[in-house]
Amino acid sequence: MITICPSILSADFSRLAEEIQDVDCCGADCIHLDLMDGHFVPNLTFGVPIIKALRKCTELPFDAHLMVEHPETYITDLAKAGVQYVTVHQEACIHLDRVLQQIGEAGMKCGVALNPATPVSTLSCVAPYVDMILIMSVNPGFGGQKFIPYALDKILEAKDLLAACGNTNAVIEVDGGVNKDTVQSVKDAGATFLVAGSAVFGANDRKAAIASLR
Ligand code: DX5
Ligand code: ZN
Repeated sequence: MITICPSILSADFSRLAEEIQDVDCCGADCIHLDLMDGHFVPNLTFGVPIIKALRKCTELPFDAHLMVEHPETYITDLAKAGVQYVTVHQEACIHLDRVLQQIGEAGMKCGVALNPATPVSTLSCVAPYVDMILIMSVNPGFGGQKFIPYALDKILEAKDLLAACGNTNAVIEVDGGVNKDTVQSVKDAGATFLVAGSAVFGANDRKAAIASLR
């Protein structure tokens, strides 16, 4: 089953509640929230207070992608704000095992994201314990970038890694440059959670855009 996760990074930030309600009505399955701190990535977005405010406008699950240093400091507050999935970057976590445990103990699903240049093998120890592996198919920080083709090999490797350790429940998410031209290849490789920012929020017909990604 395919889960379409529009990223509000490409939404109109002056009308976030309406934008989320619109993609909810247009068939989105989940809302992807890109937290950026201006340190881990060269861009700054929003934090927990805004997520808490947005929680009121939809019942869709919230998928928080933490592009921040020290992600462990946000976990308790993200749980209180009503987030379902929390994904931290492997590159941002010295104590990745501990952070994943904290996310689970807070009652949320835990994911690990890999920058394009970070090998899938860095997850070999934690693979049995993750709910999601997020393969970045652009360098994180901005919407509207071009899909990096070698991410497809990494999706296949992540699928093999999860299968090898018997973690059949975990899903593979792909984020960056997913659009009508690239979507089939990411699905063929085995990703089931598809993040799309510009391909959904930038479309004239968002319902058709979501349907075509699915
Ligand atoms: C980039 C973010 C993405 C971004 C994707 O760092 O993690 O979620 O919104 O945007 P598109 O789909 O336009 O590449
Ligand atoms: Zn993202």
